[in-house]
Amino acid sequence: MKILGIETSCDETAAAVVEDGRKLLSNVIQTQIDIHVQYGGVVPEVAARSHIEVINPVINRALSDAGCTWEDIDAIAVTYAPGLVGSLLIGTLAARTLAAIHDKPLYAIHHVEAHVYANFLTELGWSLNHPTTQLLPAQSGANGATGGTVPQTNLVLPSKQPEFPILALIVSGGHSQLVLFHDHGDFELLGQTQDDAVGEAFDKVAKIIGLPYPGGPSIAKAALHGDPHKYPLPKAKLQGAYDFSFSGLKTALLRAVQRETGHDYTFPSHALHMLLDDAMRANFAASFQQIAVETLVDKTERAFRNCAPASVVIAGGVAANQELRRQLQERLPLKIEYAPMQLCTDNGAMIATLAYYYAQKKDPVSPYDLEVVPSLSMTKTTWA
Ligand code: KG4
Ligand code: ZN
Repeated sequence: MKILGIETSCDETAAAVVEDGRKLLSNVIQTQIDIHVQYGGVVPEVAARSHIEVINPVINRALSDAGCTWEDIDAIAVTYAPGLVGSLLIGTLAARTLAAIHDKPLYAIHHVEAHVYANFLTELGWSLNHPTTQLLPAQSGANGATGGTVPQTNLVLPSKQPEFPILALIVSGGHSQLVLFHDHGDFELLGQTQDDAVGEAFDKVAKIIGLPYPGGPSIAKAALHGDPHKYPLPKAKLQGAYDFSFSGLKTALLRAVQRETGHDYTFPSHALHMLLDDAMRANFAASFQQIAVETLVDKTERAFRNCAPASVVIAGGVAANQELRRQLQERLPLKIEYAPMQLCTDNGAMIATLAYYYAQKKDPVSPYDLEVVPSLSMTKTTWA
């Protein structure tokens, strides 16, 4: 079964074709980072407008990279929740229209749950040399999409699919949670952040110390040259055994920057970064990353000891973080096979992969009725 997956919940316009929930045939991602970097974060209206400009070329490219025509596609899957409302609307409208025109079953997929399914991709299709394509931004602005393409480096996929029960650490710009999957669609939320998501903390801390958006990759890069013990930062203590909190860590980092630069809270925090040099920035990045990652790994290790899962996976944009991967592998007694970085951040392949398992148990939705749900959290089983 070949499924076209469409993802537009935030600032990536993405489409992919996946066969039988394990074989990646194509993966096209048009990121808007270049557009949002000048604002230091995602501007929702701009994101929606950019999705409109590129959605058709991205979908067409996903089909052609996979060597498919519409005849070959068995179903369409699209992110309907959660995300930015304007962004979700563009993807769902495109998917609904295509499902109606080509008479394909349509599956509505939860974005956060889908992140976990990047770990179920274990085979590459025929376009082995170019399994991930990123369309270049338009040169001239109008009509968006195709200044060209950048074939990405080869993907190294896990050698086998994770086995249930699966402990999933889901860490993105909007979510930080530990979820135990008993089966496809049958999961329980063990714990989650009580305030900021960890990716959000990476993004905010990057802003404080003057590193570019998105903060996660910038901090990871700067941290390579820094001392993770230079600025001792606190770990939050919470009642819930598996809950997280990152807002206090972000504030502690701000206070440390204020101390280092000889200013207090009366000095505008957005101007502090101009007083830092590269060495200080690297040390702040490394010190923050160290505690943020340790916090995630502490809770994951605790859940592992108490729940005895057969597999552990990490998912979401922050799962691309190498220090998180290193620390987790160091602390857990089982071999973890990580999904490639390009499949950790937002992509259409994870949407198409989850849709395959979903389709075994649930009916498609009507292309005439599907609504977006911008703030639907993943708290309990939705479809088992
Ligand atoms: O999953 P994602 O692409 O979008 C959401 O669903 O939120 O995650 C984006 C988040 C951003 O906060 C970004 O800073 C973070 O993932 N991120 C990273 C890394 N790459 C992306 N955080 C830490 N280290 C990275 N290497
Ligand atoms: Zn995401």
